[in-house]
Amino acid sequence: MLGAIFSIVTYGAYPNDNIDDTDAVKLAINKAIEAGQNNIVLFQAGTYNFKSVIGIYNAHKLTVMGQGMQQTLLLGNAPAAMFQPLNCRELTITALSIDFDPLPFTAGYVVSVNPTYLDVQIVSPHKADIDRKVSAILRYNPTMMRPAFGPDTYEIYQDPPSDRNTSLVSNDILRIPLKNPTKFVIGDPIVARYSHNRHAIDAQDVTDLNIHYVTIYTSWLMGLVAMRAKGLNINNYHVMPRSGRWMSTPVDCMHFSDCRNYINITDSKCVAQGDDGLNVHAFYLQVTQIISSTSLILREYNWPDVLNVGAGTRMEFSSSQQPFTVYTAATVVSTSIQGPNARVFVFTGPIFANVGDWVSVADTPVLTVRNLTVANNRARGVLLKTRRVQITNSLFIGTSGPAVLFEPSLDWHESVAAQDVKLLQNVYINCNEGIARQGGVISFAPFPPQLNRIFYDVIIQSSTFLFGPYTEGLLQSINAANVYIRGNYIATNSSAALVTICNSLNICAHNNTFVNNRFSVNSYIYDTRSPCREELSDLIGLSTSGFDSHFAPPVMATKAGVQPYDHQNYTHSFNTMDLSHILSLSNMIG
Ligand SMILES: *[C@@H]1O[C@H](CO)[C@@H](O)[C@H](O)[C@H]1NC(C)=O
Ligand SMILES: *[C@@H]1O[C@H](CO)[C@@H](O)[C@H](O)[C@H]1NC(C)=O
Ligand SMILES: *[C@@H]1O[C@H](CO)[C@@H](O)[C@H](O)[C@H]1NC(C)=O
Ligand SMILES: *[C@@H]1O[C@H](CO)[C@@H](O)[C@H](O)[C@H]1NC(C)=O
Ligand SMILES: *[C@@H]1O[C@H](CO)[C@@H](O)[C@H](O)[C@H]1NC(C)=O
Repeated sequence: MLGAIFSIVTYGAYPNDNIDDTDAVKLAINKAIEAGQNNIVLFQAGTYNFKSVIGIYNAHKLTVMGQGMQQTLLLGNAPAAMFQPLNCRELTITALSIDFDPLPFTAGYVVSVNPTYLDVQIVSPHKADIDRKVSAILRYNPTMMRPAFGPDTYEIYQDPPSDRNTSLVSNDILRIPLKNPTKFVIGDPIVARYSHNRHAIDAQDVTDLNIHYVTIYTSWLMGLVAMRAKGLNINNYHVMPRSGRWMSTPVDCMHFSDCRNYINITDSKCVAQGDDGLNVHAFYLQVTQIISSTSLILREYNWPDVLNVGAGTRMEFSSSQQPFTVYTAATVVSTSIQGPNARVFVFTGPIFANVGDWVSVADTPVLTVRNLTVANNRARGVLLKTRRVQITNSLFIGTSGPAVLFEPSLDWHESVAAQDVKLLQNVYINCNEGIARQGGVISFAPFPPQLNRIFYDVIIQSSTFLFGPYTEGLLQSINAANVYIRGNYIATNSSAALVTICNSLNICAHNNTFVNNRFSVNSYIYDTRSPCREELSDLIGLSTSGFDSHFAPPVMATKAGVQPYDHQNYTHSFNTMDLSHILSLSNMIG
């Protein structure tokens, strides 16, 4: 059944007139939703302006469409979200770009330092925005176009002083109030992020959300956020800085919490965002009271809405002593409110829970990622707290933390421990050299670390790892079991061991090529920090013979994505030769 086209011109939204189009676009969307399924809300080419959020409520089979990422630009002129889809099914947002003016951050060079402020010479196209509150400042590397790394790594977070805002010292010099003295010095290039909390696309309780051919240049927090989405299809989604900016979105490129069914991400790019490329997780709730064998009071630690898991959802339980180890599961029959942060949960069958136990949604989504690039961002490439993960043909370059981090956390109250993970044919270049650095380009690091294994069945295969000067290990394995490292090419000049092990079981390497021109390094070492104990690890098959093959990199980054490497052009000066190519590649990404 073909639907109708609702051209927003009909509702009074004209491009390039600098007039707020929010009401007209909302009207067009509401009319299209009222008219039934398969309708298209259509933008013309040009720039549209928005002073507040465009809500999309209860849409079924609706498409919101521009004329193309280069043609249609939605420009937010206030710190608001752009789209907020709620309770939609088969909603598609496509063929448009999103940007904001003013920007949610500024950047430039420190020209004066004082314990209570920094004066910053703002570099165009950033603006000297007055009356802002700055909540984070990081040192930047304008040559490499990424947050400063190695010994230059530095950032601060602050609750901005309440009695002072940013102010002008002179023409292009902005005074940024500081809560506490910092280590910034005159000459430091910095990016300062303002306080706000609106995502560009902020979806909740949606089923089969499609984001195709969408570019987000910036937002007032994250790029694409979905909470309790049952099915996400993301392709040709790009977060990248526009024309000379030093940052794209100030926080994550994609962030998906308590999603179900599946998340598919293909042919997408996350460049220069202020936090992770992709974060997928559920939430930990805690048992605070046992009412009966089938009825418990659970509290949340994030925000009250995370308790809305829905009737029919399977929840899994773990003890406070072994918080990431599931001992049972049960299905929710109903919930009722019990104070601001808690609910009574009634389950289909008895659960022998104790007060203090942790509870998470058990039905985590299948995550499939192909041809994703995460480049030059602050923090992780992908941060995964989910099961059944496959990442292939993806490029991680200049991520300041690990390219791939698995970290269920009782600090953030984010679940679950990953299992069934395949990382195949990926390229990792200059990762894990700055902010949020961990013990490996790929890191399994629960918070807090456990005595027992929680991550299972991991394959790291046919990938190319080119370490930067400050990259250390290949893999940090805390509490992992059944990890296979095979067919990889690893080039480093670091003296650090390739694998660091803590309380892990059955980790094997086979048929890997390891190139190190400077040092002979241990293929693995045991972490000695508490609670790691060597006798809690076993079946470690990581002898040097697992790393003594001599093949060329199996895959390499090209302009068209990660491809099998052209072996005919292979030379031993490959690293130096390709780094300049890679740099130009990361600069022109997009
Ligand atoms: C800071 O700026 C806001 C507007 O962004 C203004 O409402 C507030 O009064 C300012 N505070 C101070 C202390 O100047
Ligand atoms: C998601 O990706 C998987 C693996 O490529 C595929 O089998 C599945 O059909 C995809 N789902 C949708 C809805 O596109
Ligand atoms: C990877 O994705 C980009 C878009 O982000 C696309 O241009 C490119 O063709 C894709 N590469 C492959 C091999 O599919
Ligand atoms: C070793 O790994 C390389 C690169 O991934 C692959 O081409 C080759 O087939 C593997 N050899 C064996 C014997 O597994
Ligand atoms: C290691 O050092 C050599 C010599 O300085 C250099 O050519 C090569 O690019 C470096 N490799 C890596 C992976 O840093």
